[in-house]
Amino acid sequence: MAEAHESVVLLKPVQELAVDCNTPPQRYVHKRGDEDICVNSPVIDVAVIDLDSVQSSSPSAEQELEKLRTSLASCGCFQVIGHGMTDSFLDQVHGIGRDFFALPWSEKRKWSRTAEDTEGYGNDSELSEHQILDWTDRLYLTTNPGDQRKYQFWPQNPENFREILQEYTEKIILLNQVVLKALSKSLNLQENCFLDQYGENSNMVARFNYYPPCPRPDLSLGVKQHADGSAITFLLQDNQVDGLQVLKDDQWFSVPTVPNALLVNVGDQLEIMSNGIFKSPLHRVVTNSERERTTVAVFCSPDSSRFIEPAEDLISETSPRLYKKIKNYVGIFFENYQQGKRAIEAVKI
Ligand code: OGA
Ligand code: NI
Repeated sequence: MAEAHESVVLLKPVQELAVDCNTPPQRYVHKRGDEDICVNSPVIDVAVIDLDSVQSSSPSAEQELEKLRTSLASCGCFQVIGHGMTDSFLDQVHGIGRDFFALPWSEKRKWSRTAEDTEGYGNDSELSEHQILDWTDRLYLTTNPGDQRKYQFWPQNPENFREILQEYTEKIILLNQVVLKALSKSLNLQENCFLDQYGENSNMVARFNYYPPCPRPDLSLGVKQHADGSAITFLLQDNQVDGLQVLKDDQWFSVPTVPNALLVNVGDQLEIMSNGIFKSPLHRVVTNSERERTTVAVFCSPDSSRFIEPAEDLISETSPRLYKKIKNYVGIFFENYQQGKRAIEAVKI
């Protein structure tokens, strides 16, 4: 048993690899042409949506909803402000991630992922020997429903880690509801249309991403291109260092960090529920040769036992149903991801 465990136990964290590294090891190198890694891509103007304005009864609410719909149909993401979280609270959320990764490896490894689990602290999960690994370390934790938490992977150092993540989870649960209502309204659907598909026990997973400086940003990626398997992802970016890029019209664009905003990203499940009106965008993370970067992603999905499908009111003779009725999309997602395929293709009609 010990041996089996050892054989899968994590590779050295990238953070340790990066300490005196002139060029990334082969397993982290994208062959030229495989991925056209351009660190200085043009910046995309992602709409900033004020939720206070969306929820108000003033005429500006309609305009804000229109801006939201257009932004999601064009690039699959928007920046949300007016979410009720203060700058200093968001700094604390970012801070527990930053402070955790700043701990010595000997301390962090108390919360290491094990061979049997996907949760915990570790480097990119190795799904196949041919996989090109991401230049990142992660801490991956189920946060909701509460009874599915695996506290053995929740750090107690920094000492406020659990308390802050708990508070952030409560706030994201509420924010997710407000955003889903706004998204429904922007398509002239019943306010609860998307929310009703979620069920009581919506699923949330937090991923703290740490990107160490990389000696060759032209050869490696912080995260290779992917779409999220969630319905919605809330991403707290790093105020100091950019890195996220999104694909639009076959071109990569940098997504700037907007202070105090969260980036809201459409995941595959919202693409399904909106019958393809909202697109789950391909995105990736480029590395930085000088500076480390820490981000916090929260992936929100309907309860895995519930069926999801395109909203009935979005289907007509001129816009036929594009996706099957399915459940446990996250399971379908990882099965396909393992084979290097996009799961959304597998659920198209
Ligand atoms: C992710 C992701 C982007 C980032 O975790 O799925 O796309 O900037 N992260 O860390
Ligand atoms: Ni992502």
